Amino acid sequence: MPLTVHPLANDAGFGVEIIGADLGHDKSDEVFGAIEDALHEHLVVVVRDQKLSPEQHIAFSRRFGVLADHVLSPYALPGHPEIYVVSNIIENGKPIGVADAGPKWHSDFCYRARPSRCSLLYALEVPVVDGEPRGDTHFSNTIAAYEALPEGTRKRIDSLKAVYGLMHSYEQRIKGGANLLPLTEEQKAKAPDVVHPVVRTHPYSGRRGIFACELNTSHVVGVSADESKAILDELYAQVAHPKFTYRHKWRTGDLLIWDNVATQHRANSKDYELPHRRRMHRTTVRGHAVF
Ligand code: SIN
Repeated sequence: MPLTVHPLANDAGFGVEIIGADLGHDKSDEVFGAIEDALHEHLVVVVRDQKLSPEQHIAFSRRFGVLADHVLSPYALPGHPEIYVVSNIIENGKPIGVADAGPKWHSDFCYRARPSRCSLLYALEVPVVDGEPRGDTHFSNTIAAYEALPEGTRKRIDSLKAVYGLMHSYEQRIKGGANLLPLTEEQKAKAPDVVHPVVRTHPYSGRRGIFACELNTSHVVGVSADESKAILDELYAQVAHPKFTYRHKWRTGDLLIWDNVATQHRANSKDYELPHRRRMHRTTVRGHAVF
């Protein structure tokens, strides 16, 4: 069956949906190429109606590059360290996954020396409350957000660097009551803070976008604390502006692929709770060094 591609409805004008693919079985370069091209051009791609085993999900994801294991290994799918489980389900008294993968805007693995190129989140169970899917994921086109900044701001931030980290935000979330497993010393050692530019260049398109993110950026290097806060607040507001955002309403069987260089995203785990179950599997593809 030929693939059909439709734009996703949003005022920000990015993202497409693809219908007619069977990624568990169709291994052709043609189908992969069409999806990869759509990702480069549209930044967020949802491939509808998939039936993927963990092995098929991993095999398809590997076509984009090397998969990165998540630092938070307790949330890996048993036997499949490449899959990070995002879920509110409790089994035998233990969470099977992380219930809220990122309540604030972020790009996956931005706190690593080599952040992610793209992530592939597969919806196995979507909570539906009063007939409406819940637990939407929000995306921002960070290239459009950057390009719309005043020229003076762009010039000011173009050469700035900032510290990115996992620990700071993770521990703050635990203190704020989030149901997260504490990090072991070994996990902490795998995620030391890193320094990256505040704005990064896309390795494929050459376009620049805002990389500093609310969840994982702690401060801008080389400026006062007040100045750092003022810069970051302006960038975070820009990323979150509705002009640049798309809100994904999930359907079971969606495989949602997003570009982690050109977008940021945030989860919403506040509008549903058990017995309404959410179960997602995420793979995360390693990307380029940041420049
Ligand atoms: C993620 O941030 O990887 C997951 C997003 C979501 O659960 O909506």
